[in-house]
Amino acid sequence: MVSATAPGKIILFGEHAVVYGRPAIAVPLSQLKATAVVSPGTQPGIRLIAPDLGQDIMLTDASPDDPIAAVIWQVQTAVNRPTLPDLTITVSSQIPVASGLGSGAAITAAVIRALASFLGVGHLATNAWVSALTYEVEKIHHGTPSGIDNTVVAYEMPVYFVRQASGNHLEPFTVAQPLHLLVADTGVRSSTRVAVGDVRRQWQAAPEKFEAIFDGCGHIAVAARAAIEAGDTATLGALMVENHAWLQEMTVSSPELDTLVTAAANAGALGAKLSGAGRGGNMIALVTPKTAATVRAALYTAGAKTILAATLEPS
Ligand code: PMV
Repeated sequence: MVSATAPGKIILFGEHAVVYGRPAIAVPLSQLKATAVVSPGTQPGIRLIAPDLGQDIMLTDASPDDPIAAVIWQVQTAVNRPTLPDLTITVSSQIPVASGLGSGAAITAAVIRALASFLGVGHLATNAWVSALTYEVEKIHHGTPSGIDNTVVAYEMPVYFVRQASGNHLEPFTVAQPLHLLVADTGVRSSTRVAVGDVRRQWQAAPEKFEAIFDGCGHIAVAARAAIEAGDTATLGALMVENHAWLQEMTVSSPELDTLVTAAANAGALGAKLSGAGRGGNMIALVTPKTAATVRAALYTAGAKTILAATLEPS
């Protein structure tokens, strides 16, 4: 039996603009994990069990768009094995779905890692391969993913990421001061594919306006990286507020997200913004150990369904 995990993630800066080649910053959310367990089959064929989804099926019965089946087929293609041994693959996840925390990418990465190890093709369990194969599966579900989600969940480290046709550019960066974040869920589920598609249509209709918005987000990501490396949390907070305003311009915020962002700012957060594809899902607030409790209470009062605390430790 082989088991593997992959973490959730939060995008700190640059979502959506990252699809158009601007830099973005994301960090793993290691307290929330997806887990995959691969064990020898007790019956002929490949059995896929996902208790969270109420799913227990044989691979041969999976629909072509089944997310877990897609992972198995991807690995099968990569290892060039038309048949696999009899297996049972069990998948579970603590990461809420469709909420901007990278649940799909984490499940995919965990299955790839566990399956590659089980099959004895260890090179496919390396971070670079897990990231590349996860990206292929993300493409099936999300259309035009930037590659940031698969990168951060596969490498499980903070990344400064730039999408490039010639091969994505990935830089680790240092964190000078602990960054205390609250991650608050609006409880509204939203589709990344729909939000990304809407931004694309608006960009096609008004390319100059949207290129300027993406440039604005890109400059913020560059400045934010410098602020993280300098431990300048006041500047970082101001940059979050600015980034949220650009995301509102892209029409990917929502009344629930705006309410939480305003509540956090009014309660003394250094900054706040939506995180991920938007239209629902999660927002993040930058706090200090002193302001954390007040901001948390204000977020609940403003309608947050769940709140996680995440600290980015100095490196
Ligand atoms: O909501 P999520 O976690 O799927 O975030 C997607 C981030 C986007 O920038 C909107 C899309 C992408 O592929 O980078």
